[in-house]
This record gives sequence, C-alpha cells and structure tokens, in this order.
Amino acid sequence: MDQRKLQELLDDMSLEEKISQMLQLPSDAYAEGNAATGPVQGMGFTRENVEQAGSTLSLIGAEKLKRIQDEYLKTQPHRIPLLFMADIINGYRTVFPIPLAQGCTFEPETAKRAAQIAARESAAAGLHVTFSPMVDLVRDARWGRVMESTGEDAYLNGLFGKAMVEGYQGENIGEKGRIAACVKHFAAYGSPTAGREYNNVELSERTLREDYLPGYQKAIEAGSELVMTSFNTLNRIPSTGNKWLMREILRGEMGFDGVLISDWGAVHELVCHSIAEDDGEAAQLAIEAGVDIEMCTAAYGKHLKRLVEEKRVPVKLIDEAVLRILELKNKLGLFENPYKDADPEEERRLLLCREHRSAARETAAKSFVLLQNREGLLPLQKQGKRLAFIGPYADNRHTNGMWSFFADTDDNVTIREAVCERGYADAVFETGCPVVALGMYLYGLGGGEAGSCDMAEEEIQEAFDAAVRAAKEADTVILCIGEHPNQSGEASSRAEITVPEYQLRLLEAVSGVNPNVVTVLFSGRPLDLRRVCSLSKAVLAVWFPGTETGHAVADVLFGDREPGGRLSMSFPYCTGQVPVFYNEFPTGRPFDRSAADQKCFSRYIDIPNEPLFPFGYGLTYTEFSYGKLRLSAGTLEKDGELLAEVEVRNTGERPGSEVVQLYIRDMAGSVVRPVRELKGFKRVYLEPGEQKTVTFSIRPEMLRFWTIDMQFSAEPGTFWAFAGGDSTAQNGAEFTYAPA
Ligand code: GLC
Repeated sequence: MDQRKLQELLDDMSLEEKISQMLQLPSDAYAEGNAATGPVQGMGFTRENVEQAGSTLSLIGAEKLKRIQDEYLKTQPHRIPLLFMADIINGYRTVFPIPLAQGCTFEPETAKRAAQIAARESAAAGLHVTFSPMVDLVRDARWGRVMESTGEDAYLNGLFGKAMVEGYQGENIGEKGRIAACVKHFAAYGSPTAGREYNNVELSERTLREDYLPGYQKAIEAGSELVMTSFNTLNRIPSTGNKWLMREILRGEMGFDGVLISDWGAVHELVCHSIAEDDGEAAQLAIEAGVDIEMCTAAYGKHLKRLVEEKRVPVKLIDEAVLRILELKNKLGLFENPYKDADPEEERRLLLCREHRSAARETAAKSFVLLQNREGLLPLQKQGKRLAFIGPYADNRHTNGMWSFFADTDDNVTIREAVCERGYADAVFETGCPVVALGMYLYGLGGGEAGSCDMAEEEIQEAFDAAVRAAKEADTVILCIGEHPNQSGEASSRAEITVPEYQLRLLEAVSGVNPNVVTVLFSGRPLDLRRVCSLSKAVLAVWFPGTETGHAVADVLFGDREPGGRLSMSFPYCTGQVPVFYNEFPTGRPFDRSAADQKCFSRYIDIPNEPLFPFGYGLTYTEFSYGKLRLSAGTLEKDGELLAEVEVRNTGERPGSEVVQLYIRDMAGSVVRPVRELKGFKRVYLEPGEQKTVTFSIRPEMLRFWTIDMQFSAEPGTFWAFAGGDSTAQNGAEFTYAPA
C-alpha cells in the first residue's frame, strides 16, 4: 500500500479504532477459545480492546498464528492485520549462545548470521517482530540481564547491535525470512543502582551520551524498525514518560522515526514510579513522550479517548503514533498478505535444520573463553586417558539462556551425548550434585519453566560420593558446573555472584582426590571465580551455549575447535569490586605500585583494583608474540590518517587465531578521559610459526568525545595507541593529533 493510501486509511479510522492499534495484549488474550475474558479482563481491558488490539506478543507457530489472524480480521472494519511480536533474542528453535557470549566472539558477522537464522525460523512460524537486539551497556554483573547484552564496551555493542538488526531485517523486512528488529531498552537500563533489577539509573548526561547511547545509535542507523522504552528512570524521570529522552534525543538527535513500544507494563508503572497520579496521567505522559504502543497494560485503552475528548491530548499525537504502526505493518507486507511467512511446511523444514545446528555449534565454540589452562591440560588427549565428566551440567539439556522459552531443551545435545558419539566409551559421568540447591526455587519468566532441585535429599550425598570415587579413578576430571539459567536474565539480580556453594564443595572434594581438574563453567554473567581458579588447572567459560552445547564443548575440549572467545565483560575479582570495567578513569590518585607508601591512592586495601580477568582476555591452545607497535607517523592531521601496524606470530605448536585489539588513550581532554578505549579489533589465523602484520587505521573521528562544551568532537593533544590480545596491552606508541 502506498503512503497516500495509508493516510486515507488513517483518516477513515474512528478514534476508537486508532487507539486499538496502540494496544498490545498478552498472548493469553488469544489462547484457545475466546479468552477475551479471563486474566486479560482482570487487566482492565474491555472485550472490544481485546478484539481490536493491534498487536500481541509471545505467540508463535505458523498454524496457530494463521488461525488467530483469520479470526482477528473478521472483526476488523478496515481489515488491518494483527502484529505478532516475541522475544527471539538468541534463536527461536535453534538456540544460539546468549548475547553476552556472542559478544565474546568479537565477530559481529557471526551474530548477524545467528540473527538471520533466528529470523528465518521465526518468520516461518508466523512472527513479524522480535524484541532484539538488546544493546544496553553493562558494567555490573550483579544485574541478571548482562546475559542479554554484548558487554561493557559501547563500540563493541554498537557493532553487534548493527549486525543483529541487519541479520533480522536484511534490506527489506517484507522479504521472506525477515522480521522487524526492536532495539532495547532505551535508555541505559544496564546501569541500575546497586545492580538491582528495575532500580533507578543515575548517570550524567555526558556519561549517557558517551557510553550508553552509541549502542542504540548504531542499531537505529542500521534501520531498526522499533525501539523499546526501558523500565528505569534517567535523571529521575522514567524513560517511558521522558519527553526529553524520547522526543529530543531518540527522535530528534538520533533520527528514529519508527515505532516506539513501551516495555511490559511500563506505561502503567509511571504511577508506581510516582510521576503519575493514575493511569490517565500515565497515558498522557507516555503519549506526549511519543510511545506508540503500550505493552500489556490498559492505560491507553482506558484513557486516551477521554484525554482526546477533553482536549488534554491532541488527536495529532494519536494519528502520528497510529501512522507509524500502519507503516510498520505495511513494510511487512501484511495488508497484502496478513500471514507474511507463516508456513507450517517451511517451519518443519527449517527449524533445527542441519545448517542451523551447524551454525549454532560453530558460534558456541567461538564464544567459549578459556580463562586458565595450567600445564596445558587442555585440549584433552584423544585416547588412553580415563576421563570423568562430573557435575550437574555433565549430562544436562537445560543449557539455553533464560530467554529461550519457545525452544525445546529436548533438542539440545548434552556433553555426555557428544562425548559418547566420539567413541570415548571409557569416559564416566557422575552428576555429583544438583544445579539448584534443595529447597531453592528459581522462578521462570514468561513461558520459562522454574528451576528447583532435581534430586531427593537422600540422593545428594550418594551422588556426591559417587562423583568423588569417579574422580579418584580418573586421569582427568572435567567438572561441569554453574548457575541455573534462571539465575540470570530478567528479574535475576544476585548480590553474591559466585558459583552455587554446594557446587564449589563438589569442586573442592574432586580436586582433593585429583589435581587434574578442567572446570567447564555455565553462567549468564561474570562470576567471582577465585576458588574455581585456585582448585582447577583449566577453566573454560561456556556461558549458556544453546542447542549444540554438547557438540561445541566436546569440539573445544578435544581440540577440534579452539576456544575462540575473548571477554566482552570483565570478570571481577569479587562482588565487592563491581562495577568494574576496563575503560575506567585515571582519578587524581592513580594507584602507583612503586610508591613506598601505597596508602593514599585510588585503591582497595583488601583486594586489587584489577578484575580477575579483563575485558578482551581469552587464552587459546597456542601462544602469540607481538612485535613493537609502529605508527606511520607521529602526527595525525585534520582529515588525516595514521596506520598502526603490529606483527603477530604464532609461537606455539598448534594453529590458532588471535583477536588483535587496538586501544587508544587520550592523555588529556577538556573533560577526564578513560585510561583507554577499544577502537578496533581483527581476528588473525596463524599456523605454528607463521607471522602476519595486522594494520589498523587511526582517523580523527575515532578521537571524538563529548567535550566540556557538550560537543562531540576531537581535541588536539597527545594520544597513545596500544595493540595486543586484551585490554591490558602495554605495546604502545605515542602520537599527536594536530588538526590546525
Ligand atoms: C520484558 C523485558 C523486555 C521484553 C518484554 C516482552 O519485561 O523487559 O526485554 O522484550 O518484556 O517480553
């Protein structure tokens, strides 16, 4: 439909019909039978709201969605189709590693492929929009949703956000196998005070612009069709009612002209935040801020018509919102084909197909981060060793991230299955302990199943003893432990970010009878790994790898694939060190270890300042050496370019890849500048003994920041460039930026 026809359609709609397009109802409004009653009624929606609401979420499946669409269109005076949205954040039925793990690949193109596969599968299942990518910058591992982000660096988040939008949307969301993306959560949800979920966010405008907005900006520049508001406040104003943030920044400065959808209940929550007396005020604040769709609460449905009639809300605001919604449905081609790609046959053909599984397996291996490998215990020798796979994840299908509740963990490959497929008949497997302690209950979210202890009390001691016996008999123990998937993700902040205590006790017992312990760690966040690292020779962080967990873990443990990951988020020394991140500020008293009296410096007296493992870090199965970083000149001129070159050599015995990272430090600016910032990275593959020269381009635009005058520009002065395998690289060279 062309724009003129869309405008004619809008002009022909009643006010009630327009407002209905702005409502998004939960999926149970469309459950079997006429669920226009039940829980949805309790939410304050009228029967008409239910029958007319313009979109719904968390419904998927070709046959089901075609049937719902057919029913819906019968009640639509203008046959405006229903929009189906859902959280497909790391795959639909072929589940990929959690986004934090995908960030560790340092390969945005890998994440783009994962998004494209997710789009292909979910579009065939009838979906139109995914609530992804989440590009919230995260620095506080107590917050459970770090698992949904690609980490602590704005530049990296921007590259991944762009890649994911491109993967989902392609060039045209109306094409087959494409869905609309929704970048979230706007803005700065990743920095809740004390790491506590849904807590307020306190950031200066400069920090917001410098560190938090770039990720959203890149996703919007990539064409994300939707943006989702965040639950949190900024400057003590909740995002969903924050006119400055949404109209001046998002739509004005960032140029976003798509659909702005609230997060679940966030319009009504303006009342809870105490900036609205009631849902009527909440509706007014939200529509004035430019929120087009209210997700799953009824403020718009109950009050917008009255607000227009009372002239408290100009109908123009309604028309703008509804036109954006109609344009989105039009871009998806829904007016011509309300089913879009919904096709049961295609669904059966695509879901979990060999190509998709293979991509998930490869992505997982690239996301695994080898944190420690004393005595080169990894990769495991292929034959002749007695291997004991111990722990609650040694034979466990529940290895998807928390936002994977449309998938079926029965499709997942366990470590045990993968090891046995390789013919290691003499490998033994012992659970040793449960993932969730007795009596503990971990709520699921949405359709996710709860987590609870899957062992009876009398079984636990027996399992523990059997595991210790197996460890004693083995040459090497592979201890597979970690968080439950429900311990990260939404509504999963943890005040102590450690491996569950009873699993640590298993590690202590096992390492007490066998020094050769490889710990395979499942988690949705960085954890305090001091005890794990002291009791293990090797530690491999695998996050939540998804459908192909077992194959990917076995590929890496036995050396068929290298652990390709580099940390996209720092692992803190302990919880007390959080938030910790590489691009911190020098302070007025940077810690000087050489000082005789090390008292009055910016430091702790009981722990080091450095994280246990820094951003960008990850070991491989070989070693690399670096030549001295060279710059093509000592001065960078306005509109000029410097080339930064560094030789990298594989000095080990195995082929491997190195993620060469470029960091730049501005030695002095009109405001304080971070001790360094990631400005580029390249993965190079090298055979043993092989050397390659890696070249980076340094240009003035890479030096820009929000200056004292709140201008985004570069200032003349002295800079240092560093190149290396993680954010602690000291291999540096100085240059001057002299634009005059
Ligand atoms: C949730 C999340 C958001 C998600 C939405 C729909 O509360 O905050 O990320 O997309 O609701 O499930």
